[in-house]
Amino acid sequence: MSTIAIYSLKGGVGKTTLAVNLAWAAATLSARRTLLWDLDPQAASTFLLSDGHAREQAQSIFSKDVEPGKLVRATAFDRLDLIGADMSLRGLDLLFHELDKKKRLQKLIETIHKKYDRVLLDCPPGRTETSDQVMRAADLVGVPVIPSPLSERAFAEVAKHLGKKQLMPVHSMVDRRRKLHAEALARHPDWPVIPMASVLETMAARRAPVGSFAGKSAGGQAFARLWQVIEKRLAQ
Ligand SMILES: Nc1ncnc2c1ncn2[C@@H]1O[C@H](COP(=O)(O)OP(=O)(O)OP(=O)(O)O)[C@@H](O)[C@H]1O
Ligand SMILES: [Mg+2]
Repeated sequence: MSTIAIYSLKGGVGKTTLAVNLAWAAATLSARRTLLWDLDPQAASTFLLSDGHAREQAQSIFSKDVEPGKLVRATAFDRLDLIGADMSLRGLDLLFHELDKKKRLQKLIETIHKKYDRVLLDCPPGRTETSDQVMRAADLVGVPVIPSPLSERAFAEVAKHLGKKQLMPVHSMVDRRRKLHAEALARHPDWPVIPMASVLETMAARRAPVGSFAGKSAGGQAFARLWQVIEKRLAQ
């Protein structure tokens, strides 16, 4: 089993879009038994992949030794399961701090390692106790970076805390017609690219990963390619 976290210091950079579409690609294109674990109290991944009844119990996994397996739900897609988020997770940083167990998340993931081949973590933004737990637990950390100097600065900050093997920057919401974007892509020609695409915005209206309704679109293809890159990295 491998754990892939999608994380960034910055908010609104495409983390959830990346997490949901990569999880779908893992389950559907690679036929992996996949779990998407939503760690963000905004519960955007949960909204996209379920009918989204808030249960206010997501934090119980971390606080009360409720087995993670108990909160797993199936999605509409074969081999893709979800541990949903809800507002109870807004206290997660404090809880991790009080628990003082640096590898709590990693240990919880280990309890379900036999059931899944790939676990994806959709993380809230910011450098927090939660992000520290995530970085310890993840084999690979995908970091969406919108091509701009400020995003690159935030990425450099994240990169300081991760090894080369663990870190995977991804250019997100790219519009090649913009000068700043073209320049950033030229600086990092090896970073995978997710284009700015209105079809990706429509995911929230359809409540489905793009591959399930527009797999041949530029956006859909970009996630399929990126997933192949990730599988190759994991195999190394
Ligand atoms: N490549 C893209 N093209 C067009 N729109 C996008 C793209 N990626 C994300 N979006 C849109 O941008 C908004 C923010 O994306 P998303 O929710 O994935 O970011 P996030 O980093 O998870 O945000 P948060 O920090 O709030 O969790 C959403 O409305 C999403 O539909
Ligand atoms: Mg998000």
